[in-house]
Amino acid sequence: MKFLPISFLILALATATALAYDPSPLQDICLATNDLESGVFVNGKFCKDPKQATADDFVFMGLRNPGNTSNPLGSKVTQAFVQQFPGLNTLGISMVRVDFAPGGLNPPHFHPRGTEVQIVVEGTLLVGFVTSNQLNNTLFTKVLYKGDVFVFPIGLIHFQLNIGNTYALSISSFSSQNPGLITIANAVFGAKPPISADVLTKAFQLDKKVVEYLEAQSWYDNN
Ligand code: GLV
Ligand code: MN
Repeated sequence: MKFLPISFLILALATATALAYDPSPLQDICLATNDLESGVFVNGKFCKDPKQATADDFVFMGLRNPGNTSNPLGSKVTQAFVQQFPGLNTLGISMVRVDFAPGGLNPPHFHPRGTEVQIVVEGTLLVGFVTSNQLNNTLFTKVLYKGDVFVFPIGLIHFQLNIGNTYALSISSFSSQNPGLITIANAVFGAKPPISADVLTKAFQLDKKVVEYLEAQSWYDNN
């Protein structure tokens, strides 16, 4: 078996391509469109005819304004994913801005498809992420000040808490046009239909009444 047959190598390459997500761009631009008449289907979205592209397709103004932090978490995430910003289609990147009231929390969550790198623009944040079971669920945490940058590896649970007395603002970039979001409390205690209280009682080793209380709460989504 010194030389693998060429057909095997081609098959391996094709499989790797099929399993890849956010692959390298296949063409210069592929603006997501809902217009099926003139669309070409690539990477999960229809692409607008490139000849119809304008400069406006490459601009997103939705991060200009602060998000409203008057909510139970005291934080608001504003997304610039491919859904909001079609110009990102096939490019494998996206952004969010996160606004924090004093004491505001972006609660434990993870992104199944993207690594996140975050810069603090205003204020002071306590941030952290937890590794997988394989690495003993180790917490890596840090206090970040204006200008500091932190990276949250793909798929790991992380959070940010504004520990300053003032408003805080951060901007994040993701290694995916559609990194996805799973907020732990919302997914576990706010599942629809609810996860059996017997499951959660055993899993979290709680009194069943506490689980029933938690499942009766409305879990705010700050995105
Ligand atoms: C921050 O971690 C965010 O994903 O909003
Ligand atoms: Mn995140």
